Amino acid sequence: MSMLRLRDISNISLASRTIFVRPPEPPPEVLWKDPSNSIFIGKTKIFHIPFYWNYEELTNPHLAIVGITGSGKSYFIKTFLTRAALVWNSNAFIIDWAGEYREWVKSAGGQVISLGKGSYINLLDIGGMTPNNRIKQVMRTLAILTNIEQYPEQKRLTEMAIEKAYKKANFKMDSIVQKDSAGNVLIAPTLKDVVEILEKEYKSGSYEYPAELQNAIYRLKQFTRPGQDFFAQQSTLDLAKLTTSGLVCLDLSGLPDETFRALAALSMLQFIKERMRAVGWRKKKGIRLFVVLDEAWKIAGEENSDAVMIVREGRKYNFSLIVASQNPTDINEAIFSNVGTTFIFKVKFEKYLNYLQGSLNFSDYIRGEITQLGVGQCAVNMAFTTTANFSSTFMIKKVIGEEPLVEYFLDLKHVLTEEERRDVKVAQTVSVEREELRRRLRMYGLNESQIEEVSSLFDKKNKHMDIVSFAILMQRYGLARNKITSLLKDLGVSDPTIINIFIKADFKVHSMTNKDIIDIILEE
Ligand SMILES: Nc1ncnc2c1ncn2[C@@H]1O[C@H](COP(=O)(O)OP(=O)(O)OP(=O)(O)O)[C@@H](O)[C@H]1O
Ligand SMILES: [Mg+2]
Repeated sequence: MSMLRLRDISNISLASRTIFVRPPEPPPEVLWKDPSNSIFIGKTKIFHIPFYWNYEELTNPHLAIVGITGSGKSYFIKTFLTRAALVWNSNAFIIDWAGEYREWVKSAGGQVISLGKGSYINLLDIGGMTPNNRIKQVMRTLAILTNIEQYPEQKRLTEMAIEKAYKKANFKMDSIVQKDSAGNVLIAPTLKDVVEILEKEYKSGSYEYPAELQNAIYRLKQFTRPGQDFFAQQSTLDLAKLTTSGLVCLDLSGLPDETFRALAALSMLQFIKERMRAVGWRKKKGIRLFVVLDEAWKIAGEENSDAVMIVREGRKYNFSLIVASQNPTDINEAIFSNVGTTFIFKVKFEKYLNYLQGSLNFSDYIRGEITQLGVGQCAVNMAFTTTANFSSTFMIKKVIGEEPLVEYFLDLKHVLTEEERRDVKVAQTVSVEREELRRRLRMYGLNESQIEEVSSLFDKKNKHMDIVSFAILMQRYGLARNKITSLLKDLGVSDPTIINIFIKADFKVHSMTNKDIIDIILEE
């Protein structure tokens, strides 16, 4: 029988032995290689070493960001893009599903394109492609978003009608330059022209399967009806400048549903991919363009979407894709297995943890840490091109932010007694950080335009609003009293004050005559 014997051993002889545990963090020369050519994220949790992100020694420059709602994904992306613009002069194109980036992009001096609110994309714009190639892409998009793939005859009819529309507009089918004999650039047809061509054919009665024609028309018409023709009017943005316009936010929150949002996102990715190929390869420090897909699960999960193409070819062109999601299994495997860096914010579901641990191969210690992270804290996994003799997953204490905080104030003046008003020890306002308030309002079910209205009312009144008016406004937005109560409690208002607020609110509503609460807030 063998025996275990305890022995004294000197530090020197211990140090000469082979290390059997990997160091928990990469060494400083990896974390901090070239600060003037990389992006600062925050300090590591164990040794407090500043971590600067660079992709030169990684398999590719793409990033995946995962974590539960409110864990800090979007905040991280904003910080990251701000610094990338400073360090590398990088451009960014954000596909903003929920209108989360709009305000920030505006305040950072970027450009916001709000589809559904005055901006349009013509689906048949060729964006530097030949019409033949563009038709293939449009058909692929329709296959992702509609059931056209199940109806080969309707697919053929649609394809032919698009071709006819291009020809009618004098386009040459295999040329990327489209000019008339006088040298003027030709104007692309729209889906409305395509519908017209199909309808004409239907009316002529010459086609032997009218039901097929009718269905093909019906499918396209969902994109051409007045008020829903966001993709069937001439584009209001310059596609040639998409990848070089600094910070651009494509706000999709004004579109009526997920199909429209996906159609916009898929088309923009196609145009971006073509630009990427057209501008060609150039050896240059840093990333030229970051394409951000935040919560765009329909796109990120689709094998045939151009996001996969950007991921495959991005490194060659210095383009980087950032995908963020609450659910890592929503990100297509072709993308997930091709990201060089994964930032993991708090994750709770076992299923997601299993998936992450299975694909990134981190220790149970890291897994435990991930379940307990606070807002802004994360684990980082990097895929190095050479084998690393240190742990490629490590913890970041907190993402150190770049975002200016804006505080909003709710005035308690009307719910305090005369005495309390004069008492310097009694708080006269409750304050809340703007993004935090927006987040909460979203959580309580307000829609984006209501949240926007609240923000703009605060902004117009020097960041202040009377708390009674605020409560009436919430009522007007359809929030039930118990919800308003818990919202006010969340903001730190005490129970007696809340009762007082409702008494005053009822009184005010009675005496409002026919004035709108918005006018009252603005006059106050
Ligand atoms: N590193 C950080 N430092 C300070 N505040 C942070 C940090 N990260 C996030 N926050 C704050 O926490 C809140 C939630 O963050 P954020 O909006 O980034 O969450 P998210 O993961 O994108 O959530 P969702 O999935 O719902 O979009 C915001 O108010 C943000 O300002
Ligand atoms: Mg977010």
